[in-house]
Amino acid sequence: MAEPFDLVLGGGQVVLPWGVEALDIGVREGRIAALGVPASAPAAARFDARGLAVLPGLIDAHVHFRDPGDASVETIATGTRGAIRGGITTVFDMPNTTPPITDAARLAWKQRHAEATAWCDMGLYVGATKTNVAALGALESARGACAVKVFAGSSTGDLLVEDDLSLERVMRSGRRRVAYHSEDEYRLRERRALFAEGDPPARHAAWRDVETAFLGTRRILALARKTGRPAHILHVSTAEELDYAARHRDIATVEVLVNHLTQWAPDAYERLGTYAVMNPPLRERRHLEAAWAAVADGRVDVVGSDHAPHPRAAKERPWPSCAAGLTGVQTIVPVMLDHVAAGRLSLSRLADLMAAGPARVYGLAAKGRIAVGYDADFTVVDPAARRVIEPGWLVSPCGWSPFAGTTVTGWPVATILRGQVVMREGEVLGAASGRLARFWGESVEHYADFA
Ligand code: DOR
Repeated sequence: MAEPFDLVLGGGQVVLPWGVEALDIGVREGRIAALGVPASAPAAARFDARGLAVLPGLIDAHVHFRDPGDASVETIATGTRGAIRGGITTVFDMPNTTPPITDAARLAWKQRHAEATAWCDMGLYVGATKTNVAALGALESARGACAVKVFAGSSTGDLLVEDDLSLERVMRSGRRRVAYHSEDEYRLRERRALFAEGDPPARHAAWRDVETAFLGTRRILALARKTGRPAHILHVSTAEELDYAARHRDIATVEVLVNHLTQWAPDAYERLGTYAVMNPPLRERRHLEAAWAAVADGRVDVVGSDHAPHPRAAKERPWPSCAAGLTGVQTIVPVMLDHVAAGRLSLSRLADLMAAGPARVYGLAAKGRIAVGYDADFTVVDPAARRVIEPGWLVSPCGWSPFAGTTVTGWPVATILRGQVVMREGEVLGAASGRLARFWGESVEHYADFA
């Protein structure tokens, strides 16, 4: 008799890289062992996916879990539990923590802490500063490091590399793709005086305007071309940048945020007030429409959440002193499924933007597609389920979401991480079993146990 599978997922519509097919998936030792297994195949466990769609484990390549930092807002434990509950199997966590992840000792702490407390798999960004350039080459190839992150415009925290010389030094410090927050710091500073404390929050999009974003992206792509270092432009928020980046596809990849695909000015500021404030800002509808056009024609590589929890008190300060950033790691899958249900993209394109895309952009190994030999990570969704995003369902201790109370069509009903069902119908199961993800070009040791 054939060797039994540990798990067979049967009866689902499976989102493969080459199309959607109705087939059964055999899993062994945490990996995908076979596609199209017969119904009679012996298995220790079966997952009945009839009526459901099976996507590759979806990745949120842009989260801020604030760990180390304020545990009453978020930790790796709470953030990754929220991820699992929301149908995410891997997150890439940003370095603007307190203190930031900018040297080997802090990265080593975070590697250990993630391995001890994460519920999903993780990649870790390393923050660039003007003084850690010499260390970046080694840091970017450390275990679980997904990329160097550069804040070329200031946002939450004090990470900032704004001038051309320093940016060029960072680009010359290594080889892997660098991820950028690309608002132009000089224009931000210049325009700050045009606005007063207590102005309406919608002024956020006037201060951090289209030109601020465009200048940042144009400058970074010019330096990327000069140095030959590929660039990933995070949270592209303007029609102008999307067009510009498309003319530099040999060096540029693009992330768009779920919020920029879903919310617009002035509506979001009217409904949410300072809770709508994020960097780069929510903008008028033409940018949202341009972002959807860019999703449709392939200019966008990745959709992420930029999950950025803050205490309510910090969000409720008057603009512009209010904290910038919106939560989203737990809601990104339901909200994107709702866009699928509305006909704005297909399940295949969703898998491309949230699994294959992050894998390609960051050089993520053995994840991001349903194929034999890959990690058995799956996001199982009911595309027709109509649910309300209930505040009580949210894990994050910060306690708020811009989507609380929203009704969506499409819901993640199970999360499977390396062959283990870690979430079923909203219930997080088992114990924290997250690992550091692997990336091409990182140190050999991390691959040793993969044979
Ligand atoms: O709105 C934002 N919040 N944008 C960022 O770039 C950082 C983030 C945060 O960490 O709060």
